[in-house]
Amino acid sequence: MRVLAIESSCDDTAAAVLDADGVRSSVVASQDLVHGRYGGVVPELASRQHVLAIVPIIERALADAHVTLDDIEGVAATYGPGLVGSLLVGLQAAKGIAFARGLPFVGVDHLEGHLLAILLDRPVAFPYLGLLVSGGHTSLYVVDGVGAYRLLGRTRDDAAGEAFDKGAKMLGLGYPGGREIDRLATDGDRRAIRFPRATLKRGAYDLSFSGVKTALRQYLLEERGAPLADVCASFQEAIVDMLAAPTLRAAHDLGLETVVVSGGVSANRRLRARMEEEGARAGLTVLFPRFAYCTDNAAMIGYAGRARLLRGERHPLTLNAAATAPIGLPDALPHAADAEP
Ligand code: KG4
Ligand code: ZN
Repeated sequence: MRVLAIESSCDDTAAAVLDADGVRSSVVASQDLVHGRYGGVVPELASRQHVLAIVPIIERALADAHVTLDDIEGVAATYGPGLVGSLLVGLQAAKGIAFARGLPFVGVDHLEGHLLAILLDRPVAFPYLGLLVSGGHTSLYVVDGVGAYRLLGRTRDDAAGEAFDKGAKMLGLGYPGGREIDRLATDGDRRAIRFPRATLKRGAYDLSFSGVKTALRQYLLEERGAPLADVCASFQEAIVDMLAAPTLRAAHDLGLETVVVSGGVSANRRLRARMEEEGARAGLTVLFPRFAYCTDNAAMIGYAGRARLLRGERHPLTLNAAATAPIGLPDALPHAADAEP
């Protein structure tokens, strides 16, 4: 089955074509230049950019795959979680194509896409532990199979990427800030400043990143004057510690042998090094999707959507965008039984 997939949950407009041989094309239009000057995503600007980009991006994905809409056999799109105004653009485009062409349609949870992105690169045996770290989400899941996810813990406040971005803004760095902090931290002393590591008693694998952000603000207010590289390295180390420790503990507690780290923050070089080092010491296999599939993309939505379409799952064209509803919770993905055949 050849599937057209669309993703527009935040600030990237993306489309991809997948078939039995894998990803035939994957195109992403970044809005970094639009939001950069504000130090974060401006929802109204994001949805307007999506409206401008969506048709050219779909056309480009079809062209790169050397196909036309006549060759498409199913359509998948992210329906949540995300910014509703952004989600609606991609979702409406997908539903419009499905309606006009009489094609089967399925909505995909954005987090499901991230959790399965590794499978675009290589087969991985289930179950595996999925650490999802992006600008909007930070959570730990057990992935038992396609469509079978158990939420173990998640951030109580900011996402890890959000902490990186807000920290970078305080330091006067560009957006998105995670990459900048990663780059500047290269030559810094990770032990220069001891930022606090949040440990939460209730919810054994829950995380929190607002404390470290406040600590950075406080540190900057006190003007203690450490070199920027040291501040970046120390701030990054605190975030990496708070991600690595519960992940390795969860893998140990649940007896899982494989850990998959995905989402934009999984590009962080220190997180990669620490997870690989400590994972190897604990006898774990730690995997990261290739970078293009770590950040937001439509190929991962196509993977999840195609798997669901092949199983016969469909959503009615009345499926709406959902700002929240993370998978693994009772209010999760609308069940296939609710959908029209
Ligand atoms: O997955 P993603 O592209 O979008 C969301 O779904 O949020 O993740 C974007 C996030 C941003 O917060 C960005 O700062 C962060 O990923 N990021 C990084 C790095 N590259 C991107 N954070 C830390 N280190 C990096 N190298
Ligand atoms: Zn994402």
